[in-house]
Amino acid sequence: MKILITGGAGFIGKWLIEKIPPEFEVIVLDSLDPQVHTKSQDFAPEIKARAQCIKADIQDIANYKEIIEGTDVVVHLVAQTGTGQSMYEISRYVQDNANGTAKLLELISSLNHKPRRVVLSSSRAVYGDGAYTDGKSVLYPKGRFLENLQRGIWEVCSPEGEILQPLPMRETYLTKPTSVYGLTKLWQEQLLEIYCESQAIDLVTLRFQNVYGPKQELGNPYTGIIGIFTNAISQGSPLELFEDGLVTRDFVFVGDIADAVVKSIITEKTLNTTINVGSGKAVTLIDVVETIAQLLNKKAEYKISGRFRVGDIRHAVADMSHYETQLGEWQPTSLKDGLSQYLDWYLHQEPLNPEVLQASLKEMERKGLLQTKKPS
Ligand code: UD1
Repeated sequence: MKILITGGAGFIGKWLIEKIPPEFEVIVLDSLDPQVHTKSQDFAPEIKARAQCIKADIQDIANYKEIIEGTDVVVHLVAQTGTGQSMYEISRYVQDNANGTAKLLELISSLNHKPRRVVLSSSRAVYGDGAYTDGKSVLYPKGRFLENLQRGIWEVCSPEGEILQPLPMRETYLTKPTSVYGLTKLWQEQLLEIYCESQAIDLVTLRFQNVYGPKQELGNPYTGIIGIFTNAISQGSPLELFEDGLVTRDFVFVGDIADAVVKSIITEKTLNTTINVGSGKAVTLIDVVETIAQLLNKKAEYKISGRFRVGDIRHAVADMSHYETQLGEWQPTSLKDGLSQYLDWYLHQEPLNPEVLQASLKEMERKGLLQTKKPS
């Protein structure tokens, strides 16, 4: 059995590689993008020990056809992942995420032996704001209007201005991304659906919620809030919560994500389906900060700034029932346990320089993508 993991040198790849059953021969193709691999331009030791490593951009994957020939399962992890950054580095996100997937498909199409399955790491960003209810029916509101955000109206409202209640995201809900990043993830899904269907390749699309855990790159200001908040709390540097701090996210531990990918690789069943992978619990930004501070034995100090990122969604949580019918029991790591493991690891790492984060926020501000609510 042979497996190709594109983008396998990253955060999720490092966890996945250790969980892949030994009977699989593994090839990892990764460009070691300096934005993600800030400290070393080499494959991590655990990856080198287990896989044949190819340092290459996904755009050039055709050059490695001979090595890849005979692959049974492809796991496609290559992606640029910053929601905010995607709103101004648009062509880079389109190139790496959408065209990168197109190049992978052209390579597969040139192989004599087609893989039997492709597993895609997609994102809940494809749902955009997702589905809401007014207590009576399932609604797909347009989302949040810029003029409302500028007035500090953070929740998703009906056209009449009534606050709507978010529903846990289900795979059957409409996709309507609000960021360029989310759109490029949807394009990845759709490119694969069309191609895999034409070749009878089993496609498993996994929509991840907010992934966190040890080995998440700290030098990259675009890797998510767990790192940003932990850096700020442990160094006593400024911590800013956007909007009113009551944004919710579903934080899923990276080890659970790797388990979901492994199950998708090894199952004997033909799946041809899209599956959410989250903890199934919605947590506010304030609760995350409080939990990290408590585990570090520090006081949580933060500023609720009223600033907001254009393209952000307000609430996200996965409905995990489809996962259970397709891949079996789902027992996610609790946020407290996951964060404890994260902090044990974090305390031995070199933290993010707060100036790097500030520079990324300034950049978004300059582009009009980080705005402040206007005084009422
Ligand atoms: C994240 C991932 C994305 C993934 C998606 C769904 C990152 C960078 N993005 O997007 O790849 O597909 O989840 O799984 O990991 N915030 C603050 N203060 C800050 C920074 C951010 O309050 O200093 C807020 C943001 O406005 C947002 C929330 O925190 O409301 C989460 O932001 P972030 O961690 O960047 O992730 P997502 O946009 O949810």
